[in-house]
Amino acid sequence: MAGGPGSYVLGEEEKKELLDVIEGGALFRYGVPGIDGFKHKVASFEEEMKKTIGIKHVVATSSGTGSLLCCLAALGIGAGDEVIVPGYTFIASISSVILSNAIPVLAEVDDSLTIDPKKIEELITPQTRAIMPVHMLGNPCDIKAIMEIAKRHRLFVIEDCCQAFGASYQGHRLGTFGDISAFSLHVFKTITAGDGGAVATNDDMLYERAFGFHDQGHKPSRMGVEVGNRSIVGMNLRMNELTGAVSLAQIRKLDMILDKLREKKTKLKNMLGVLPHASYRKINDVKGECGTLLTLLFDSSEYAEKFSEAIGSKPLAYSGWHVYNNMEQVLNKVTGAKANCPYECPRFPVKREYKKHMLPQTDEIVGRAVNISIGVVDKGVGAAYGININSSDEEIKQVADKIKEAAASL
Ligand SMILES: Cc1ncc(COP(=O)(O)O)c(C=O)c1O
Repeated sequence: MAGGPGSYVLGEEEKKELLDVIEGGALFRYGVPGIDGFKHKVASFEEEMKKTIGIKHVVATSSGTGSLLCCLAALGIGAGDEVIVPGYTFIASISSVILSNAIPVLAEVDDSLTIDPKKIEELITPQTRAIMPVHMLGNPCDIKAIMEIAKRHRLFVIEDCCQAFGASYQGHRLGTFGDISAFSLHVFKTITAGDGGAVATNDDMLYERAFGFHDQGHKPSRMGVEVGNRSIVGMNLRMNELTGAVSLAQIRKLDMILDKLREKKTKLKNMLGVLPHASYRKINDVKGECGTLLTLLFDSSEYAEKFSEAIGSKPLAYSGWHVYNNMEQVLNKVTGAKANCPYECPRFPVKREYKKHMLPQTDEIVGRAVNISIGVVDKGVGAAYGININSSDEEIKQVADKIKEAAASL
């Protein structure tokens, strides 16, 4: 079975919440006129997430991608604006910027596989409006360093927490550092409702704008259609009550899931000890990371390739989804104000081109990196092999033995 940790612990709790909604008969997040059984699951999920993350506002959405779009719209980022985003991330971090008519500027990652703070300042131009650090593979970015750079240059920070729901940095949950942040409840994420997402912020104005963007411009928690009260043009990125029910049951399991992941990862790491020709990627907060994956960094790409072959996997460079070199939708294209258009827009100058191998440091690192699953079992992130959140000690030992054997054969 593939999937994220949340999908391995689906059970009675999710069933109970779902049944509650079905029995009540109101599937829309605001209830349905004439139906008394409205159960407020989306609103309850938002409340629970606020408490769990430690943040003032949450808007539940239909996906992480939709959440990123809300963040960008809330900040008013649009035509001609540049957003600095790492070249190792899921396409949505980049495409959400393009679809906001803004310009993604790709940045290098370091050996934490998150954006390298040392490489950010050289990318800042008069057009730069925001940095989008992505907490990749459950590992917090060096978020304090990023916040300092943003403050110095008066830039917004949008935290992409889609792969790190619940992780923390120096005792504070991710998503509470930047101006606004995006979360995903996709099936490969820490907790899941199949699809779904959330936006979080401490800023009242950003909350109102993000909410409006996700719900046709309406003010937060409307009841019915509030004509005359809509300030911005938005779209429909709402979460429904069925998704809300599962999300609610899952967020109540978040800390249990994180404890289990960290425990299993520690066990596997202890069994592996020091491997020949390999080390582990840098973790920016060992206690706070999600523990969804164990990433090995080999001394060379040749070692990484040979090792991967032995365990039936591939180095991150070839894992498909998450490396800019594999994003054919973006490569050899230009972004300006009409980024998604087949012709050039004369009103805006051509701004950026995206070329294979334009980020040599990132290429070098992802070429040597191999993911072992701990809780995210996903070929798409190169984690086709490893353990899952329910693996027994015996199963963990078997995986450790195979990894040791493969490393020893290099
Ligand atoms: C880093 C990152 N950002 C954004 C997204 C988009 O989330 P979703 O799939 O829920 O739209 C994902 C998930 O795939 C992701 O991994």
